[in-house]
Amino acid sequence: MTSSAAAPIRQLAVMPRRLRVASRAASGARVISLANQKGGVAKTTSTVNLGAALKELGKRVLVVDLDPQSNLTMSFGVDPETVEKSMYDVLVHRVPIDEVIHRREVDIAVGSIDLAGAELALSSAIGRERALEKAFMSIKKEYDYILIDTPPSLGLLTINAFTASDGVIVPVQCEYLSLRGLVQLEATLEMIRENLNRGVAIEGILPTMLDKRTVHAREALDLLHASFGDLVFTTRIRKSVKLAEAPVQGGSVLAYEPECGAAMAYRSLAEEVITRDE
Ligand SMILES: Nc1ncnc2c1ncn2[C@@H]1O[C@H](COP(=O)(O)OP(=O)(O)OP(=O)(O)O)[C@@H](O)[C@H]1O
Ligand SMILES: [Mg+2]
Repeated sequence: MTSSAAAPIRQLAVMPRRLRVASRAASGARVISLANQKGGVAKTTSTVNLGAALKELGKRVLVVDLDPQSNLTMSFGVDPETVEKSMYDVLVHRVPIDEVIHRREVDIAVGSIDLAGAELALSSAIGRERALEKAFMSIKKEYDYILIDTPPSLGLLTINAFTASDGVIVPVQCEYLSLRGLVQLEATLEMIRENLNRGVAIEGILPTMLDKRTVHAREALDLLHASFGDLVFTTRIRKSVKLAEAPVQGGSVLAYEPECGAAMAYRSLAEEVITRDE
């Protein structure tokens, strides 16, 4: 893709930021979705570790598992098969969200496999795209940041996340960079802006699983910068086995190995996110 093809994305994404800051001041927590319809790009890993890093900086953080795979829930040491209620009940049965929040390293609103049926269960409901936004209303003042981990699709669960969000962080794996996928994601966001939430925009693109030694990864980074300019976070997340090990211990890499490079990188991302918010 050429940089001119990407230009409208940059304009659209930057424009609503002022609106977003204004609306947030009135409503409490800043809500950020981590989304990319491509699987395995570190959405969940980034939700866990950005959440923990924001908490370290003194922010009140809630993370929300909106993925039927429930990897976020498992990453904080909660077994999604034994939870009594999950985000499914919040979205479909309108159970108050505080009934599914577990206190862990950060607060987590848990997911379960039931979420696989949420899109169908909601499909005929009036206001089906706003179920999550409504659920947040009762708790938004209790948090500074709400991070939503989304499934690898642009279906109704992700649309609920975008409708409830101020910003979207898009993790991308440089090795298998899909600019077409990013354009599709932005098109979905544009539809959300037109119909459901005019303040939502891409907050930043996060290069993940970077192996700087490969020429291909360097070329992919250059292409990202050429296409999306300042939307690409300065922070890059390198490949690190620690990020795969930490969830087995039931938490973030900041808790598991506080001084490792991956922990430092997510701290730096948290600072960038806070700065972009100001
Ligand atoms: N920087 C990294 N270095 C090495 N491994 C990583 C890194 N980030 C994530 N991983 C690992 O890559 C795999 C995919 O990551 P993750 O589950 O966060 O992706 P995802 O986008 O949430 O996937 P899905 O689309 O299935 O929800 C996991 O096993 C995770 O531990
Ligand atoms: Mg995931």
